[in-house]
Amino acid sequence: MALPDCAIVILAAGKGTRLKSSVAKVLHRAGGLPLIEHVVRACQRLKPRAIVAVVGHHAEDVSAVLKPLGVQIVIQEPQRGTGHAMLMARRALGSRAKYAVVLPGDAPLVRAETLAEMARIHRQSLSAATILSALLERPEGYGRILRRDDGTVEAIVEDSALTDDQRAINEINSSIYAFTLAKLWPCLARLRPDNIHRELYLTDAIAMLRAQGESVGALVAADAEEVLGCNTRADLAAVDEVFRRRKRAELMAAGVSMLMPGSILIDADVTVGPDTLLEPGVQLLGKSRIGAGCTIRTGSILNDVTMEDGALVRPYSVINSSHLSAETEIGPFAHLRTAVRMLDRAHVGNFVELKNTVLGEGTKAMHLSYLGDAHIGGGTNVGAGTITCNYDGMKKNPTTIGRRVFIGTDTALVAPVKVGDGAYIAAGSVITKNVPADALAIARGHQVNKPGWAAKRRRQMAAAVKQKPAAKHSEARSARVSRGKVAAAAKRARRIRKRR
Ligand code: UD1
Ligand code: CA
Repeated sequence: MALPDCAIVILAAGKGTRLKSSVAKVLHRAGGLPLIEHVVRACQRLKPRAIVAVVGHHAEDVSAVLKPLGVQIVIQEPQRGTGHAMLMARRALGSRAKYAVVLPGDAPLVRAETLAEMARIHRQSLSAATILSALLERPEGYGRILRRDDGTVEAIVEDSALTDDQRAINEINSSIYAFTLAKLWPCLARLRPDNIHRELYLTDAIAMLRAQGESVGALVAADAEEVLGCNTRADLAAVDEVFRRRKRAELMAAGVSMLMPGSILIDADVTVGPDTLLEPGVQLLGKSRIGAGCTIRTGSILNDVTMEDGALVRPYSVINSSHLSAETEIGPFAHLRTAVRMLDRAHVGNFVELKNTVLGEGTKAMHLSYLGDAHIGGGTNVGAGTITCNYDGMKKNPTTIGRRVFIGTDTALVAPVKVGDGAYIAAGSVITKNVPADALAIARGHQVNKPGWAAKRRRQMAAAVKQKPAAKHSEARSARVSRGKVAAAAKRARRIRKRR
């Protein structure tokens, strides 16, 4: 596809009142991208002479998204209608292009192939304008295509101006057109705001061209879905669902398996390799890259995650901006917050949280840990409940653990701290000093066993209960007695401790 004699004008200055949003309409997202980015991507595939966007409401926010995409910006201020918007683009277009494809920034489902087909028909038919129309079961709200008895296009009538007879017409104007610019400009100069909105309607140019004897064509979109706009939140949800469905279909065709595909959300830029299985409720977001032969189980959410071949994510894991090498295993219920690198065959189990941490090859942290700002070598075992105390109240500090280290259960590593290769840490240790390679570190209180202590205590308790006077006392008295017993037991305990 290449249209060197054609420019593209994206109309995106309007307000989008019906979304009831403080965010620009065209920046609302569907399929994981801002609406207008989908439009720009389709336009770029046409390789046109230029892409110009007319912006107005939230101009700064919209421009910030468009400029990095290489789109030329034109400001329309105030917004006086679609015809006025097109007039604003005139200077930017100059005489660079003979034709223009014009389309709204909020109809993101249109395909490049459809735009190219419209442009091709437009050129071939020597029409002054070609409209992309669609047949809708519920055409309310759209401008309608009025045709003459011979089938040629007569005019576009806005919904608010329809006569009762015209209301039944179900061929609608998608607001996507091809124009021959030399014929369009003189008409736009003659537009008048005689309508309920006091705006200059681009649609009025159609009747003007016809009155001059020009021919106007209409290409009926093969798939009406492509021209869906996003005027309401319900429209947005419907359009999002179409993108999700398209993406899933594309991936399944490329060899990805899905269970209950309707429950799976995959953003536009995500890639997934063949023989990977996605279970119900999985979300693959952002720029995630999933390899071949991976399994991502129920309810897991991956955002900007690279996952190499054969990796496994068990149910309900949440992973952000991280790298999972081949054959790593994660979860269930794991949380990789950000900047985690798990090297080949590393495993992370349930209720483990990682942040800015490297886990070496084959290293395992299987239960109930927090590892943050840590670098852990290969072949190391991180015991259940191990915590890196990486935050000292002021700043984050690193923990460095070598290869083939054994970290006992419930170890606290008070960072900054280093543990050398092959070291052992005894369970329950609070490690505040570096541990040399191959050493054993024990940092916990010594255990003392008192032979017979428990049995003796039970005998004393039993004796105290026997001495107690027989029932017949008020509840208040019984409370007093039991408080007394507690006090006596505490006194005994203090005596025992002193004797140690
Ligand atoms: C427009 C068409 C209608 C068509 C419908 C399809 C006109 C008069 N009507 O109606 O026939 O069926 O689209 O969705 O064109 N815009 C500007 N500047 C403005 C006004 C609008 O840039 O001053 C942009 C909007 O941001 C939007 C597009 O033009 O992207 C269409 O405007 P909108 O207000 O949505 O027009 P509709 O009433 O939907
Ligand atoms: Ca609209």
